[in-house]
Amino acid sequence: MYRSHNCGELNASHINSEVTLSGWVQKSRDKGFMNWVDLRDRYGITQLVFDEGRSNKAVFELAKTLGREFVIQVKGTVIEREAKNKNMVTGDIEILVSELNILNPALTPPFTIEDDTDGGEDIRMKYRYLDIRRNPVKNNLLFRHKVAMEVRKYLSDLDFCEVETPYLIKSTPEGARDFVVPSRMNEGQFYALPQSPQTFKQLLMVGGMDKYFQIVKCFRDEDLRADRQPEFTQIDCEMAFVEQEDILNVFEGLTRHLLKEIKGIEVEKFPRITYDYAMKTYGNDKPDIRFGMEFGELNEFAQHKEFPVFNAAELVVGIAVPGAGNYTRKEIDGLIDWIKRPQIGASGMVYVKCNEDGTFKSSVDKFYDQDDLTNWAKITGAKAGDMIFVLSGPADKTRTQLSALRMELATRLGLRNPTEFAPLWVVDFPLLEFDEESGRYHAMHHPFTSPKPEDLELIHSNPGKVRANAYDMVLNGNEIGGGSIRIHDKELQSRMFSLLGFTPEQAEDQFGFLMNAFQFGAPPHGGLAFGLDRLVSILGGQETIRDFIAFPKNNSGRDVMIDAPSVIDETQLKELHIKLV
Ligand code: AMO
Repeated sequence: MYRSHNCGELNASHINSEVTLSGWVQKSRDKGFMNWVDLRDRYGITQLVFDEGRSNKAVFELAKTLGREFVIQVKGTVIEREAKNKNMVTGDIEILVSELNILNPALTPPFTIEDDTDGGEDIRMKYRYLDIRRNPVKNNLLFRHKVAMEVRKYLSDLDFCEVETPYLIKSTPEGARDFVVPSRMNEGQFYALPQSPQTFKQLLMVGGMDKYFQIVKCFRDEDLRADRQPEFTQIDCEMAFVEQEDILNVFEGLTRHLLKEIKGIEVEKFPRITYDYAMKTYGNDKPDIRFGMEFGELNEFAQHKEFPVFNAAELVVGIAVPGAGNYTRKEIDGLIDWIKRPQIGASGMVYVKCNEDGTFKSSVDKFYDQDDLTNWAKITGAKAGDMIFVLSGPADKTRTQLSALRMELATRLGLRNPTEFAPLWVVDFPLLEFDEESGRYHAMHHPFTSPKPEDLELIHSNPGKVRANAYDMVLNGNEIGGGSIRIHDKELQSRMFSLLGFTPEQAEDQFGFLMNAFQFGAPPHGGLAFGLDRLVSILGGQETIRDFIAFPKNNSGRDVMIDAPSVIDETQLKELHIKLV
């Protein structure tokens, strides 16, 4: 038996018990005649004591050879500590060791295995297995497990059935590039790794499975960011015989359950806003609504004066920043530089200080009087002591820029409180979006999303105006899930493919299996998928999903621990019928 107890459970009630523990040497303090060792495992730390007077001589000497991260097993007696540590669960006791067994020595780790480590990101990624021994990483993995368990419990109780779908599939266009896998047995042919199990879950509905879910890996060859990994995990769900309302209710229920069970937070019914409202009010389809700073459109009160920049703009739009009225000229200039960076790309910014006495001081006083500025303050909701920042230009671009400024200021002002949770639904997404580069429409969500029946007549005259039965769940400024009611009619699905620029042959070749299935009694159905990594990291109060993935990739999509991707040898290439050029 390697252990009778773990390193996190012994307390005063165990005093005088004989115990066996196994774990890693966190650190040792050798005072000559006494040697204390902190023994660590997943559950905590227990102090071991080796005492020249009380311990067996051989054990006492062997303890002096222990280095950091040695794996050891000890037997001994639980005794009361003289100097108790109230901050530790095991702080009242220590183990007077009678037997010591070195299970495996260890090299000195390249960084300290402490909560506050001296290891940088790169070295910790290379030795991720050592990083996982640290509490912050270990606790994130345990937290992820807890969330996944709650999800499984909740959905199973509602009769959802977890079904596994294949990883070697045929490419489906869902926006990102596919990772492909060459087939040895089918020369020149490739599988694709699924970007999501979208078509399979729809086929499960045709198969009568009715309520499906799967906690499943998805693969997308796209540019990486803090909230994106090339392989990530979805909580993928689908239901038959449902309308949008049913789906929103079920998955709002799941999210509310998680917030309650995991965070102890009760949330009221989630607000629902339309995509159009989100874009107009926050410049963003995943707004953070933990704070205000809603957009105020100022065209009516800013144009047709003498200021040519605003007169020429499609949109003049501002936000009131609470308590920022005392920003110095230097701070304002800093923000103007920030917003002019190429990543944001604004050409300039107008500001209005809202003085405590109710007057205003702006950077455009030459063109606007106090009455004009009073109107701006009314529309942006500015109060005395606030600062209004105003941008102008083409509508979409300007909204995106102001949205970036809004988020940046909220971060600087500490308004993005990680312990506060503000979920919402964004509904009525456009069905299609125009892609300037290819000069045609693309499905905004994916090609299986159904248009709103009342908008169908616009599909040829004004495709960009057709709304979809599609929705996203947003939490604290992050899209944590998205889905739609699907098309379940072959004719409509064919029309959709043709609108998206597929020839009938291409549609048949890529999606014949799905359209064929629709002819064999496909029920009305819909669903959604949550990004598990995102959900877990936000519930955990962070936005970097890497910290909640056991073995993540770095920003260039590499696993630096196993050094992947890597070249493969000639024989393998040959077998796969691949010639490198
Ligand atoms: P979608 O593409 O919106 O929908 O993905 C669903 C959710 O998955 C998460 N997500 C990601 N997380 C980490 N890294 C990534 N690269 C990444 N890409 C997406 C997001 C997102 O909201 N089949 C549809 C769902 C459906 O219609 O039912 C789909 O995959 O949190």
